[in-house]
This record gives sequence, C-alpha cells and structure tokens, in this order.
Amino acid sequence: MGLRIMQTAHYVPDKIIHNNDLTKLLDTSDEWIKTRTYIRQRHISQTEQTSELCIQTAKKLLSQSSWTADQLDFIIVATMSPDYLSPSTAAIVQGEIKADNAFAFDLNAACSGFIYALVQADQLLKGSYRRGMIIGGETLSKLVNWQDRSTAVLFGDGAGGILVESQLDSQSKVVGHDLHTFGQSAQYLTAGYQPLDSAFAHDLTEPEKKYFIMDGRQVYNFATREVPNSILRALNKAKWTAAQVDWWLLHQANGRINREIAKHLKQSSERFLLNVDAYGNTSAASIPILLDECVRSQTIKRGQKIVLSGFGGGLTVGSIALVY
Ligand code: ACO
Repeated sequence: MGLRIMQTAHYVPDKIIHNNDLTKLLDTSDEWIKTRTYIRQRHISQTEQTSELCIQTAKKLLSQSSWTADQLDFIIVATMSPDYLSPSTAAIVQGEIKADNAFAFDLNAACSGFIYALVQADQLLKGSYRRGMIIGGETLSKLVNWQDRSTAVLFGDGAGGILVESQLDSQSKVVGHDLHTFGQSAQYLTAGYQPLDSAFAHDLTEPEKKYFIMDGRQVYNFATREVPNSILRALNKAKWTAAQVDWWLLHQANGRINREIAKHLKQSSERFLLNVDAYGNTSAASIPILLDECVRSQTIKRGQKIVLSGFGGGLTVGSIALVY
C-alpha cells in the first residue's frame, strides 16, 4: 500500500509587500533582510482569513481532479493561525466544499505542521480510509507585531495543499519518516498567547505575548542541528543515502538555514529547492506551496525520491522520505 500525492495546489492573497515597503514601517533595509534571510517579498492578507485561503486551495485541488468532494474521507488543515479555536479551520473548509463524508480536524505543529499532518494521513490511509485532503494554511500577519523588526520582516500569508490516495500497487509512497518535539525549548518561539479571561481570573501576562516572540539565534541553531538529525533518521528508515535523494523540500524560513543544512548533509544546495524569496515564512503552508510550484514546473517528476522536512515552534521537527 502506498500514499500517492494525486494533486497539488496553492493560493496566496494578492497583496505583495516588498522589503522596501517595510522600511516605511520599521528601521530595516532591503539589504539586511535579503542577506540575512533571502526574503524579497511576502503576500499579506487584507480581507481573507486562514479558512478562505484554505477553501480556495481546496477548490483548486478538486477542480484539477476527477474526485468529487463527497469522495473525501478526511480533511486535515495544518495551521497555527486558525480563524477560531472552534470550529476548526478544517471543519469550515469541509462545510464550504460540501465534503459530506469527510471528518475534518486541525493540526498545530507550527512550521512542522504539514509534515506532521502528512504522517497522520499516511497512518489513516494504512487503516480503513482511502482518500484525503491535507492543507497547510496561515495568516501569520495577524500574529506579527508590526513594530518588531526582528520578526515582522520574516513572515507571510498563504495556503498550499494536496490530495492523497492509498493505492495498492503504487510506486509512490512514504518510505520513512521522523517526528520529534523539543518542548523544553518552547520559549524560543511563541505566538498567540490566549489570556485567562473570566470573572475569576486576572491574567497579568504582557499583551505582547499575543504576537511572535522569537530568539532567532536559538531557532537558527536548533534548525541547523536538529533538521539534519531528523533527516538522517528518516533516510535511515527509508534505507536511502542522502546522495540518492533527487530533491529536498525544506520548510522555507530562511534561505541561509537551508544552505547550512545542505552543508551539514554534504549535499549540493542546488537540489534544495527555495521559494522563500517570494513568500517569506508561511509556516505550515511553506512546504505545500513549494511542492505545488515544483510539480507545476515539472522540476519534480513521478518516481523521484523526495525529502520533505519542517521545523519551528514547539520546538518541532519532522522529516519524510517519499517516492513522488
Ligand atoms: N533589520 C535590520 N536590523 C535588524 C533586523 C531587521 N529586520 N532585525 C534584527 N536586526 C539587528 C539586530 O537588532 C542586531 O543588531 P545588534 O547587533 O545591534 O544588536 C543585528 O541585526 C543582528 O541580529 P541577529 O538576531 O543576530 O541576526 P541574525 O543574523 O541571527 O539573523 C534571523 C536573524 C534572520 C531572525 C535569524 O536568526 C534566523 O533566521 N533565525 C531563525 C528563524 C526561523 O527559522 N524561524 C522559523 C521558525 S518560525 C515558526 O515556527 C512559525
């Protein structure tokens, strides 16, 4: 039995904010942002919530496919920026596209969310379910403190998704994965604190905790150390060597991090695909947006060996070795 990725799609809001636009709000420069992160621009939502970005992605996925919405068994939305805590973003998508036979739930593992969701989907497809939709969708702009130059330049909004099917004789499959969480380092990246708010509570936590607070250096060191470890564990399970991998699709947080990871793995950075320049860090959406672009440009072809790897808040890390 193999998990086959049947369709890919993505949707981003129209509004593009270039680095130079941010220099009007913050004490920063295009030069600083580009050299430190490789980011040139990001899409920022003005009217569309996370669910809307996900619904547009879901509609694209279905319109490209021969499936009808009622043939879906499940919908997972990976997000750290849902519209509501309840209903889940996935339930909103399920209702809107009328996927009447699908159960739907959100999964929050920050920037590792899409990888964690894909592993959940693989397990569901090894059980009694046949067809699923996985979307990573974020409006991180609502979690950004637009006065904090150390985080405001990094993030963007968007959604990307895939349709997956269990197939008996498919050469496409997940051949190895690794998921790890480092909760003792949680404080290095926080966002979206929910204050206690009742007749009995008086929450004195600083209001800034609503927004991203990040120790960038710690997250950088974590990513360049733990992502190669996670990838090597996934490769080990797949019985692949790094040299056998055709393409590497890592979370797009900062191009420098991905270059550094390539170096750790002694691989050419040319096969580490990048689009962070155009989207910034879109957390759970970054890997499916990149995957969709690479499938559409025919960079990635059927039968090729792909490694996907995410890392971020939690702190979390996750890697998947799959045959596309
Ligand atoms: N413009 C200009 N200067 C800035 C800016 C800015 N936007 N931001 C910070 N600076 C200044 C700092 O104040 C500091 O100045 P100082 O030396 O006078 O104190 C200087 O630039 C250097 O700052 P550093 O933080 O040391 O810069 P660094 O080279 O580490 O780059 C960065 C910062 C880009 C954030 C890097 O640490 C990084 O990419 N970290 C990882 C972030 C990440 O990957 N997050 C992913 C997870 S996100 C998720 O899960 C949702």
